[in-house]
Amino acid sequence: MLLEVEDLSVAFPTPDGLVEAVRGVSFSVGTGQTLGIVGESGSGKSVAVQTVMGLTRGARISGRVQFEGNDLLKMSGKQLREVRGSRIGMVFQDPLSSLHPYYRVGAQIVEAIRAHEKVPRAAARRRAVELLGLVGIPHPERRVDDYPHQFSGGMRQRAMIAMALSLSPALLIADEPTTALDVTVQAQILDLLKNLQADMGMAILMITHDLGIIAELADEVLIMYAGKLMEVAGRRDMYYKPHHPYTLGLLNSLPQSGHEGEPLVPIKGQPPSLIRLPRGCPFVPRCDFAMPKCRTQPPPLRPLPGSPDHRSACWLPLELTGTSGAAGAARELASIEANGGPVVVGGKLE
Ligand SMILES: Nc1ncnc2c1ncn2[C@@H]1O[C@H](COP(=O)(O)OP(=O)(O)OP(=O)(O)O)[C@@H](O)[C@H]1O
Ligand SMILES: [Mg+2]
Repeated sequence: MLLEVEDLSVAFPTPDGLVEAVRGVSFSVGTGQTLGIVGESGSGKSVAVQTVMGLTRGARISGRVQFEGNDLLKMSGKQLREVRGSRIGMVFQDPLSSLHPYYRVGAQIVEAIRAHEKVPRAAARRRAVELLGLVGIPHPERRVDDYPHQFSGGMRQRAMIAMALSLSPALLIADEPTTALDVTVQAQILDLLKNLQADMGMAILMITHDLGIIAELADEVLIMYAGKLMEVAGRRDMYYKPHHPYTLGLLNSLPQSGHEGEPLVPIKGQPPSLIRLPRGCPFVPRCDFAMPKCRTQPPPLRPLPGSPDHRSACWLPLELTGTSGAAGAARELASIEANGGPVVVGGKLE
């Protein structure tokens, strides 16, 4: 495995109490693989990957983060800086937070290269031009000398990707890389990532709050909520045989092809505060299928029968998954409940 995260917990002491942003999360990414982390705002996605990169200061951290055989959590700041940029590249939601407004785009890529490799400035500049071309910036030999504000939002995101790729990292961490962009540019950037991955063989860890975004990209998907993993599955299983009611909720709130006329159903309610979290399942207040047990006992992440790679942290019977997508699963769940199954607290999903 390229990256292996084991039982990672991250908490921030604040004047209001301890914010438990990540609670016992484990996952791994193999060479050339794409892992998607999906969840609503505040579910701990960014904190989890920032911790992997050694970027969460002042946090209480426990667990293990193995990358290429080394524990990143035990590395010094200097060692980490060496890994970041050269072996792990990063792309964030807002490229302006990483591109400095006062320096030309090309010069920033040159600096990123020369921070890790002893190459002459002219050679690094040639590589910067090449990279800008690779990510689809037109006339890169001219645009290399532009300032970030002379680029459009989509171009800045491409420039960020160029910078992240400048040292051919083994892993690219992309935290909502397309959220700020319009749908067309979003699709172009995702295509670009897919092609670059095929060419360079790098692994991608992609964070998004939109399950639709990683529909084409991810090999495996993690569904995260209130700092915990709710469901883990291969992309196809996550879409066609979702188990966790939270996953169903995320799927139901997506526009689905073939069902264009149907209204989207957002998940009711809000994610919980991460201070003084309840003992049981954090999704209970929003779950249509909650049982008394769910309030008192946190459901462990358990494999579904016959699918060891598909796991769900829910007390509902594990054989109960969607046969025709989320709607099918919801129907099955509703019929079980009608036959004296789980005690339903809220309304029905359908
Ligand atoms: N330095 C910090 N101190 C205190 N709390 C923090 C800190 N950083 C993050 N948090 C809290 O941790 C929780 C998880 O935040 P995180 O940024 O990981 O969410 P996210 O899933 O990435 O959401 P989004 O989709 O909005 O980016 C939030 O409640 C946030 O307020
Ligand atoms: Mg985030």
